[in-house]
Amino acid sequence: MNKILEPSLLAFSKNYLEEIKALIPLGIQQIHFDIMDGEYVANVSQFNATAVKNIRQLGLDVTVHLMGFHYLNEATKFLDLGIKSMTFQYETLKIHPELEDELLKTFACLKEHGIKCGIAFNPATPFSEVASWIAKSDIVTVMTVVAGKGGQAFCEQGLINLHDVYQYKILHQPDLIIQIDGGVNVDNIEQFINEVDFVVSGSSFYKADLATKTLMINKVQHSYE
Ligand code: DX5
Ligand code: ZN
Repeated sequence: MNKILEPSLLAFSKNYLEEIKALIPLGIQQIHFDIMDGEYVANVSQFNATAVKNIRQLGLDVTVHLMGFHYLNEATKFLDLGIKSMTFQYETLKIHPELEDELLKTFACLKEHGIKCGIAFNPATPFSEVASWIAKSDIVTVMTVVAGKGGQAFCEQGLINLHDVYQYKILHQPDLIIQIDGGVNVDNIEQFINEVDFVVSGSSFYKADLATKTLMINKVQHSYE
């Protein structure tokens, strides 16, 4: 599978549609969309499902990442928008374990709509703790920052999880899509590129000049295993 660099919408301005249009000639084909509801994480995303609809109309794919508790309610907003995937922050279940059934139901609902689904997990959560959820996932978001805001420093602890997920993928689930999210910049891509499929980059990509953006896209999309 080709590797994809996905800019994270969180870092964009209100003029995001024009900004995204300008990235298409550079080879950007997919955008990452974070949902922060101010409940599980302190921040609230400035964009909603309408932004996803608008991005889809440009012909780009979208991956959604929910950092919140209302799995089914949030997923419902995206069912008919043609999103590629939706991942759910695993640690929300540690706060509300009774939501496990709802997450399973949400996975089933997304799969029925042809949308890939799975979990996202923070650097401090070990792979062993999420292994049973990864077995139910089509895609897993390995976090290299603590979920909750953009612009944080890359956390190398997440690479230990990435390595475990990758080994698991090779042995048991070759179709599993591995997405890395958080603190990705032009200098750290080589540390993980061989083990991932989707690379999310928010603030570093957004702030980078044209040459650096192009370099980041090349490092991801033209890398060879
Ligand atoms: C962090 C979000 C990320 C964020 C990445 O909680 O899940 O998707 O947008 O942004 P950067 O690359 O700035 O860490
Ligand atoms: Zn994210």
